[in-house]
Amino acid sequence: MPTDNLEVVIMAAGLGTRMKSSTVKVLHRAAGRHIVDYVLDLAAEVSDRPPVVVIGHQREAVQQALGERARYAVQEQQLGTGHAVMQAAPILEKQGLAGKNVLILSGDVPLTRPETLKKLIDEHQRSGNALTLLTMKLDDPALYGRIVRDGRGAVERIVEAKDASGEQKKINEVNAGIYVFEADQLFGNLRNLSTNNSQGEYYLTDLIGALSKTGKRVGAVVAEDPVEALGVNSRSDLAVVEAEIQRRVVEKLMREGVTFRNPSTVVIDSTVRIGNATVVYPFATLEGHTVIGSGCVIEPGVHLSNVRVGNNVHVKTGTVAEDSDIADDATVGPYAHLRPGTKLGKRVKVGNFVETKKAVFGEGAKASHLSYIGDAEVGADANIGAGTITCNYDGVNKHKTTIEEGAFIGSDSQLVAPVRIGRGAYVGAGSTITKDVPPDSLALTRVPQRVIEGWAVKRREQKKKK
Ligand code: UD1
Ligand code: CA
Repeated sequence: MPTDNLEVVIMAAGLGTRMKSSTVKVLHRAAGRHIVDYVLDLAAEVSDRPPVVVIGHQREAVQQALGERARYAVQEQQLGTGHAVMQAAPILEKQGLAGKNVLILSGDVPLTRPETLKKLIDEHQRSGNALTLLTMKLDDPALYGRIVRDGRGAVERIVEAKDASGEQKKINEVNAGIYVFEADQLFGNLRNLSTNNSQGEYYLTDLIGALSKTGKRVGAVVAEDPVEALGVNSRSDLAVVEAEIQRRVVEKLMREGVTFRNPSTVVIDSTVRIGNATVVYPFATLEGHTVIGSGCVIEPGVHLSNVRVGNNVHVKTGTVAEDSDIADDATVGPYAHLRPGTKLGKRVKVGNFVETKKAVFGEGAKASHLSYIGDAEVGADANIGAGTITCNYDGVNKHKTTIEEGAFIGSDSQLVAPVRIGRGAYVGAGSTITKDVPPDSLALTRVPQRVIEGWAVKRREQKKKK
């Protein structure tokens, strides 16, 4: 595997009414990706050819999301799963189907493990079945199709929950919605399906009865872990899927050498990468294309979205960052806010309650406390004192502040942009800087201090008289 006599069809045309959403079901997200993305990953594990995805509701959106990774067949009206698979026939027949097998996956069943799928395909090839399907055993078989076996244990047919008798409803082995068919048997029989059932649909599952009636062999592989066959039909299913993907993501990261102080509390998208010897504290949320290097510490409540973090970086409690870069050995937070376009060089320190936006900090630069640094370039080893504000917005336009290498900005200064503080220059604490400061000079705009000696004594005496 991948086997070249295997074609894959993914059914993804339904809207998913039970999601109560304007978004088509297969485009709902779990751990940062569309649920159908996981199904496409699976298809790629077992077949070299792009799968045929059957699309219908919001077909443009689905096609856009999956792009070149799939071929597409359109199902204009959602007349059932049998009808869905039929729409893939013209594309597949063009390639010739003789001697091939067709794996059918449901776009809403994302948790199947590649090993399980391989086991199903192996069993199909080994046994010479016309059809081998995946089943699972559930304590509550709910709305899944029931597997009816004959006296010798062979699969005889599938009865949909809505069509099942009281006795049949008690059957706890159910259909996972994943099938490997001999191509001829599949497309040969699909044309004979009827809509004679409670939903008036062409059920793919009716093929099982048709095959076993004509003496063809139908086999089943029981999934060891029922979660692998969980279909997303409701928000509550989606939450279960998300939790399971999260669990797998964290398991994998731990195998790769990441430490989690309390793994069940973190939220990490399946797109995130983390290097070994990094420690992640409780309640971290790491999203999108976030990549974290080795030896980092990610403290409690940190929220990173599309952030690239180097090695040995310390991100302290409550820090929020998006679309930003943090280089090696930097320290950020607690409670820092790095907004898009922030780039922190090596050994930079951005401390508590500092907000940055489109700000590029050179190596070793520091803004340790209570500042807003926006639309700014900060040179290497510059030091920005507590409470410094870049006044970047004049109400109409944004302007740039440049702080050159080694400059020192005294606490509580305002730098009114556009403005440049030269290399090695000093700004006195509490200054409002509106003009460029030349290199190696001192600028200060403070009102000189007045001292009136004995003033307080006089005031107290006045108060007593009143
Ligand atoms: C289906 C099976 C059921 C099985 C369950 C497993 C049938 C008749 N029933 O039921 O035995 O236990 O899956 O999850 O097959 N779709 C289309 N076009 C359609 C109808 C559906 O593309 O006309 C797609 C849906 O988008 C979805 C998948 O097929 O991705 C399954 O359809 P869904 O309506 O969810 O079937 P279930 O009722 O879950
Ligand atoms: Ca379903």
